[in-house]
Amino acid sequence: MSAELIKVTINTKDFQVPKGARLIDVCREKGFDIPSFCYYADLALQASCRMCLVRIEKMPKLQTSCTIICTDGMVVTTQSEEVEKAQRGMMEFLLANHPLDCPVCDRGGECELQEMAFSWGNLEERFTEQKNYHPEKYLSPMVANDPQRCILCKRCTRVCDEWMGEDAIEAGGRGAHTVIGTYGGWLDCSQCGNCIEVCPTGTLLDATYRHQARPWELTQTISTCSFCSDGCQMSLGTRGDELVRIVARDRYVNGLNGEFLCIKGRFGHPFVNHEERIRTPLIRYKKGGRLIPTTWDEAIKHVARRLDEVVDANGPNSLAIVGSPRLTNEALHTLRKFATELVGTENYTTTDAFSLKPFFDNLGGPLATHDDIRHAATILLLGGEPEELQPLTGKQVRQAVRNGGAKLIVINSTPIRLVEQSSQFVHINSGSLDAAVLALHSESNDRSAMSRMGVEGKEFTTLRQTLAETKGDLVIMFSGELSPASQAVVAQLPHSLGDEGRRVLLHPLPLFNNSIGAHDMGMMDGALNVSQMLSAAGENIRAMYVAGSFLSVQLDEHPDALGKLDFLVVQELFETATTSFADVVFPAASFAETDGTFTNNDGFVQRVRQSIAPVHSSKPDWVIAAQLANELGVDFGYQMSPSAVFREIAERIPAYADLRYPLLKDESKPVQVKHSLVGRRDLAAELKQLEQLVENLPGDGQKIMVTPEVGHELFKIGTLTGKVPQFHLLAEGNPRPETLRISPLYQITVDESLRAGAAVSGD
Ligand code: SF4
Ligand code: SF4
Ligand code: SF4
Ligand code: FES
Repeated sequence: MSAELIKVTINTKDFQVPKGARLIDVCREKGFDIPSFCYYADLALQASCRMCLVRIEKMPKLQTSCTIICTDGMVVTTQSEEVEKAQRGMMEFLLANHPLDCPVCDRGGECELQEMAFSWGNLEERFTEQKNYHPEKYLSPMVANDPQRCILCKRCTRVCDEWMGEDAIEAGGRGAHTVIGTYGGWLDCSQCGNCIEVCPTGTLLDATYRHQARPWELTQTISTCSFCSDGCQMSLGTRGDELVRIVARDRYVNGLNGEFLCIKGRFGHPFVNHEERIRTPLIRYKKGGRLIPTTWDEAIKHVARRLDEVVDANGPNSLAIVGSPRLTNEALHTLRKFATELVGTENYTTTDAFSLKPFFDNLGGPLATHDDIRHAATILLLGGEPEELQPLTGKQVRQAVRNGGAKLIVINSTPIRLVEQSSQFVHINSGSLDAAVLALHSESNDRSAMSRMGVEGKEFTTLRQTLAETKGDLVIMFSGELSPASQAVVAQLPHSLGDEGRRVLLHPLPLFNNSIGAHDMGMMDGALNVSQMLSAAGENIRAMYVAGSFLSVQLDEHPDALGKLDFLVVQELFETATTSFADVVFPAASFAETDGTFTNNDGFVQRVRQSIAPVHSSKPDWVIAAQLANELGVDFGYQMSPSAVFREIAERIPAYADLRYPLLKDESKPVQVKHSLVGRRDLAAELKQLEQLVENLPGDGQKIMVTPEVGHELFKIGTLTGKVPQFHLLAEGNPRPETLRISPLYQITVDESLRAGAAVSGD
């Protein structure tokens, strides 16, 4: 939007507003309430509900303010008898077919239509004809539908198309019989539930929550999603000590994701109160024996004694500390402190195989925020599949292209779904992403790089031309497939690709909610990575203290590793493959029971807030580590306060300097940590490694020709998603039940063997 200001008069008051601003936005920003149903910021205009009517001087009739762009000297009236009469008429029309039974509607208490009718009061209803009746039904295991409540605002269809790129729902029928429906009667989509979120009425409903609670019974707590690295803000709706639902509804929360959540964020929470949560500390007194429930006191003393014995006998490096990248910054910081200051071991790491150290050690430009992505001029996506693994990033990319006219270049060995939005797809051989990075660094590498990628040189000529012609922001995104040398080269690209009028921003795509925080807390600075650590188990490493679990792929690669340890202590929510080897298991609290912070792939450090008391006798991971430290004779000085841990983080980690919880309290203004930027540096060593890697690539590599199905990662059953019965239906291919009137959960028997297909992120 231009910075040029123009004068607009609203209800006799004069305002300076940016040229090009939309009238409805300006009126609301200046404090004048404008009712609307179909208008939704950053979606294509619908202009069908006619609720946003205003009088504009010199225009013959009332105008829809959502379609009007302000012009200099415009004189607007938003409140008058004439305007209200017209709006009341529209409301009466919208209610013509709508049942007036809010008390039995699942949306009652948080419905925009109900609110509008109530706030005006005294609405006339002159229609006496019989209302259209459509029975309630299920559209999928996640989405329920009460068609008669629809006001045809089409927010749902636009969100499905523009945010999700799926176009899975559409309006069907004619005139007064128009209803929102699916193609083929059953929703075959990514089940994000965003259509439910944006629906202003009780037409599209959360099928997993329906009839379980009324909104006024729920306490809303704003927190950060614990699945992927996008860091969506969400409101946890709790009743007593139960987490009942999660929404991003803007009446409760206003974060970087707006009202967007993906299936995991919205529907993946039932693990929190699941009956299989570990209830007490457990000790296995002898190898091969059973885990026996015990008290916290006994378990902490037992672990302290055994760790002491191992370190006394074998030295500090014989004890390895491992933290999941799902933990809070507070927990990861405490674990690192435990490793480096208490034990003095060099062996500490996270279970994230994608070490971001080479990237941040060479960071040549700022991290791109999700807002930067939405407004980018060009996006270069190196590997990855954000639509399945970082769905908010995927949505921003789609909107940047569709609503913002951005150019998207995809370099990938698989024709991922985002290719549909791309202006160029460079289809490379599997495993040859390093060759693409080498070619991006310099044309002089083209000869070897092109043959290994299996692409024509001219494809990169076009790509380079697009980058060189970019005016505005160029966002480079990359996945964990990049080698450490490639990460360093990509991190430095802002120096070679930046230009006057072109900012180059970087957006890493790690898999976990706090991978960036795990890097920042120093958990990626240890001597060994996770694979090396598992290889050393039973050799140099005699004991491990693991907060979280190893991913199944890691244990598959090292099946005997944990069994070779003298002692293994694990803190977890559920029994997992890792706890099956543990000598002691501590019950850990989930994100919903913990205070702390996560740092997302924008570099935003965002609050995680406790919404319920710890389930059973679980404790937050940082508390367990601090109590264990205490038993080992070291007081970490946190006095049971997560803000004290965060204060220490801010004192010790320069990128977090001066941050405090109160500064992070407004989720609508997230704080980006100050990762230091590295000037242009000599990359000779990394380039040599890269050249070697590329040279070793096979000359006859293969490309994957099939676009992966929607949900092939999102629906996979992991430790957490496996606790949601509906995910099992989706993993089974989302079969359509015989009748749509009853939940598919009661009609379809799930194949338990699907539990085996673990997601790459181990969710
Ligand atoms: S759940 Fe998501 S993908 Fe499916 S119809 Fe609704 S908006 Fe579209
Ligand atoms: S289902 Fe909801 S969002 Fe979709 S058109 Fe109807 S009222 Fe609007
Ligand atoms: S996109 Fe990522 S952060 Fe957002 S709801 Fe989904 S899993 Fe959570
Ligand atoms: S909000 Fe303007 S016509 Fe619906």
